Amino acid sequence: MEAVAEQLPDFDLTDDDLRRRGDKKWRDCPPDAIPAWLAEMDVAPAPVIVAALREAVEAGLVGYPTLTGSALPEALSGWLHRNFGWRAEPGNVVLAGDAVVGVALAIEALCADAPVVVPVPCYPPFVAALPRVGRQIVGVPCSLDGDRYVLDLDVVEAELAAGARTILLTNPHNPLGRSWSRAELTALRQAADRYGARVVSDEIHAPLVLPGAVHVPYATIDPDRHITVIAASKAWNIPGLKCAQVITGSAAEAAGLRALPRAANRGVSSLGVAAAVAAYRDGDPWRTGLVAYLHQRREQFGRLLASHMPHVTWHPGEATYLAWVEPPGQPDPAAAALHKGSVLLDAGTAYGPPPGTAPGGTRIPGYDTSVRVNIGTSAERLERIVLGLARAWT
Ligand SMILES: Cc1ncc(COP(=O)(O)O)c(C=O)c1O
Repeated sequence: MEAVAEQLPDFDLTDDDLRRRGDKKWRDCPPDAIPAWLAEMDVAPAPVIVAALREAVEAGLVGYPTLTGSALPEALSGWLHRNFGWRAEPGNVVLAGDAVVGVALAIEALCADAPVVVPVPCYPPFVAALPRVGRQIVGVPCSLDGDRYVLDLDVVEAELAAGARTILLTNPHNPLGRSWSRAELTALRQAADRYGARVVSDEIHAPLVLPGAVHVPYATIDPDRHITVIAASKAWNIPGLKCAQVITGSAAEAAGLRALPRAANRGVSSLGVAAAVAAYRDGDPWRTGLVAYLHQRREQFGRLLASHMPHVTWHPGEATYLAWVEPPGQPDPAAAALHKGSVLLDAGTAYGPPPGTAPGGTRIPGYDTSVRVNIGTSAERLERIVLGLARAWT
């Protein structure tokens, strides 16, 4: 019994506990506000991760990490197979400091020197990272089909016809929470194939697919040409440990990535490798409890919105602990949330492509008036967050 209880995620941390921890999410937030911005959860680290870190530190594992000699590729491959039926070849796994570094490295080294299609809204660091590896971003807005966001494949294809040769997908999607279906991914592959383009699939949120949806790895759609980037950092809440994994469809491409100058792919930490091995090998009981908990928060968020702010637009996602919402009549909802509701949110503005890179050269509308709300917190704090937003937006 005790072992099971120990594996349940502990969200019973007070605001003071979290602020004392010293992480960016709470420390870089005004002291009188609740942070619901950065994609990190208000949960205690999983016991299996703490045990692995303790053991690693006690063994003195604080030197340069081995990029080829760890147990991580096998552990990741086993985890992918158990969860998604995809047996990735361990030899095709390459370590990178974090997922953004992995995405940028893969695009620079393995994808054509041509514009990159990014469905928007998109995770903002991509907007900064891609120009640094010499790639122009072409933002393609997702559209709504009933109550769910979909990829606009006609526009994606038009951009491929105009010269783009890479599609950077996040699967599941941040911030929309979509878990793309096999049919959608197949259609995307077909569009890519018509132009010899490649898909880079950032699957960092794959362990956070909620009940009612499944994760389809893009690699199972295109086993030979996929480039997948994944990490334990989101689901096990350990982004500070620095260890992402890039998986390619071929040994030659993996070797090419590994051969890049060390300066290009530095940043992996030995403790990050140890934690990722523990997460993939032994972390699923905790993660299963986490997914059930996040499912409850998603339901609670819907109930709270319905009773306090029925006018707010929200299309519940199928994965992650992130909610993309648009309160009507708010020219700057994030500023109002902070100044009138004491809640720090991510402004939607950052999730659209920079001016001039969207089709037609203009900023796509809707981002400035939306926000991303992080609901990966306790039930009690989530209620305080929504009450603060209701004060701010009504
Ligand atoms: C889609 C996506 N990719 C990458 C990252 C960043 O991961 P990392 O800190 O490992 O670079 C995030 C973080 O939230 C994300 O949502």
